[in-house]
Amino acid sequence: MAYSPAVTKAVVPVAGLGTRFLPATKATPKVMLPVVDKPAIQYVVEEAVAAGLGNVLLITGDGQQSIAEHFERALDLEARLAARGNQRALAAVRAPTELARVSYVRQDSPRGLGHAVLCAADHVGDEPFAVLLGDDLIDARDDLLARMIAARQRYGGSIVALMEIPADQVSAYGCAAFKPTDDQDIVAITDLVEKPDPNEAPSNWIVIGRYVCDPAIFPVLRETPAGRGGEIQLTDALRTLAVADRDVCADGGGVHGVLFRGRRYDTGNKQDFLRTTVEFACARPDLAPDFVPWLREFLRNLP
Ligand code: UTP
Repeated sequence: MAYSPAVTKAVVPVAGLGTRFLPATKATPKVMLPVVDKPAIQYVVEEAVAAGLGNVLLITGDGQQSIAEHFERALDLEARLAARGNQRALAAVRAPTELARVSYVRQDSPRGLGHAVLCAADHVGDEPFAVLLGDDLIDARDDLLARMIAARQRYGGSIVALMEIPADQVSAYGCAAFKPTDDQDIVAITDLVEKPDPNEAPSNWIVIGRYVCDPAIFPVLRETPAGRGGEIQLTDALRTLAVADRDVCADGGGVHGVLFRGRRYDTGNKQDFLRTTVEFACARPDLAPDFVPWLREFLRNLP
């Protein structure tokens, strides 16, 4: 049986303060920082659209008008580019406006990812929905979100994406305990532990920034107290749904994990942001022929 209704909406929380990138994020939202020549948020919206989710809700905070401006027409700029006959630049300016139906809800203050997702409740209604973190990029060639939506249709409940990392790094992440299912790359989540001690971690599979949530998450989030860092954590609410008796949660209970072995780029911290920029530049046919030889030479000359 396929669980319905289908997933049609994407929620992208971007209201965090981006403190790790100050001062760059003083007047520019973190997700507007460019990875080569596109802001991170555009890659994320492109990914949602590629998975069939053309209805995208951004959860925004103070001082983030530039995000909305990025997805709106810029008529003056377009007129100037058209007057110069610069069709390539014109296409680049129009592309984000033609991508998706983007709407916005404000999170008054950044009280955590769980609180940000709760701000989507009215927009989402009684349907399952995807959550994509605006600073986590998944390579367009790896169709993670489509696999997660298919897993939701097969198993119902909520779906998280899991990625294996070295055991000595798990304490920085949300970590999953799970048991196998009949599907090789889908597991049944039995517990989720936020930032475990390395020797108490139930596995070295961490939760990354893609989710498909059953609307049953909303009443759970309303009851979820502030956790780590004084913030309402999405992981805590998913844990409640994962460990609860399925009868208690009725149809919306149960959490499954899709095992992801593809390419993920975390643009939310400086080290990974720099790596992402270099990797993306090396994969770009218009840049790589000049950039890669320069990079090789640069590294050879590094003391
Ligand atoms: P992060 O913790 O990685 O982002 O949250 P941050 O808070 O902006 O960054 P730092 O830690 O201060 O450097 C993951 C995602 O969840 C969003 C963030 O914008 C980011 O995309 N988020 C987080 C919200 O929308 N609201 C919140 O209250 C917290």
